[in-house]
Amino acid sequence: MVVAFGLGYSVTPWEVRGHVDYDRLVEEFGVQRIGGELLEKLETLAGDLHPLLRRGFFFAHRDLDLVLREYEEGRGFFLYTGRAPSKSPMHLGHVIPFVMTRWLQEKFGVNAYIMIPDEEKFLAKKVDSLDEVEPYIHQDILNIIALGFNPDRTFIFRDTEYVGRMYRAAVEVARHINLSIAKATFGFAGETSIGLVFYPALQIVPTLFEDKRPLIPCAIDQDPYFRLQRDVAPKLGRRKTAELLSKFVWGLTGPESKMSASEPETAILLNEDLDSAARKIMNAFTGGRATAKEQRKLGGVPEICPIYHWYTILFEEDDGKLRDRYQACKAGELLCGECKIELAERVKAFLRKHQERVKRAEGLVRKFMYDGKLATRMWNWEFRR
Ligand code: TYM
Repeated sequence: MVVAFGLGYSVTPWEVRGHVDYDRLVEEFGVQRIGGELLEKLETLAGDLHPLLRRGFFFAHRDLDLVLREYEEGRGFFLYTGRAPSKSPMHLGHVIPFVMTRWLQEKFGVNAYIMIPDEEKFLAKKVDSLDEVEPYIHQDILNIIALGFNPDRTFIFRDTEYVGRMYRAAVEVARHINLSIAKATFGFAGETSIGLVFYPALQIVPTLFEDKRPLIPCAIDQDPYFRLQRDVAPKLGRRKTAELLSKFVWGLTGPESKMSASEPETAILLNEDLDSAARKIMNAFTGGRATAKEQRKLGGVPEICPIYHWYTILFEEDDGKLRDRYQACKAGELLCGECKIELAERVKAFLRKHQERVKRAEGLVRKFMYDGKLATRMWNWEFRR
């Protein structure tokens, strides 16, 4: 099991560096590409296909075929994903797994569990104190609620608060993971805190919340946790988890960068001031040429352009219009300045709407975390083999 490579990039749950070779990653992680037939089946069952699936941004999976089969047979499934609060707010890249989870919840009418591991970044030594993440926990929860989950079918919980209900299951999971496997999976070393070594057991627990197959939409950096789950679950008499895995949203500084809140110029934060978001976009790297004259003559290179990338993932739903944009760029008819201005307007509109929803989300927090239908049930959850 490998989580990092020496070939100019690395992918672990705590760090993604360099230009990721997804073909190589698929092979090394042992996941499957999402092929045409599977997408067709998903489209038939869901009624349509989300652009992030149509355009291959969610590009790999584990056992998605089983999820769909079990759904068809009436056995159902449930959704699980999460966000570890850090010392900065969520950015547009973090939205992707939640957008997909929400879409699947709506299409299949299933429960969704959202973990807020408020200890993970502390144990991974990404922050200096637990207090440092505290101001962002509530903000992250509001951002997630604002994306439109069903309050009676979604349970949002933070580890430091809900751990009492999870601990028994975590212990059962942890017993089946030895240190050699944990090291090989995550690259733990002598200086790793013992808290981080135990943490994967907790991240696995929500996959045991229901006696159905879990489906986890996330970026591929989270796969190591769930590879372990797939070893352990059968030993606890539970189903191996399925995964729906995305690529990484690029930062504004180019395809070599992953959007990262710790590098503010690469990222648009969800609470960002609209003018600041527009400024970042106007300053972004593009696939354009050095001068307008050259661009008209040679055309741009949308394949390496973060601006075009952002249209493909969140800011152009219409495939025909996306194709037109691509061709106009290639033909040198569309210049970068114009393309950026349009994107800036769309991002501003998205943020304006999102920030309004965040204000309204405040009134829904209790339902998602404590007294909605699913939340109420989960505060009485007990792990039983
Ligand atoms: P975290 O907080 O680092 O990231 C939250 C989710 O966002 C995904 N992600 C991205 N997706 C696309 N482009 C990017 N640039 C990008 N950066 C991050 C991550 O894959 C993740 O899905 N350990 C987790 C928290 C967690 C979790 C889970 C995640 C707990 N349980 C179950 C997924 C499923 C974490 O640190 O996520």
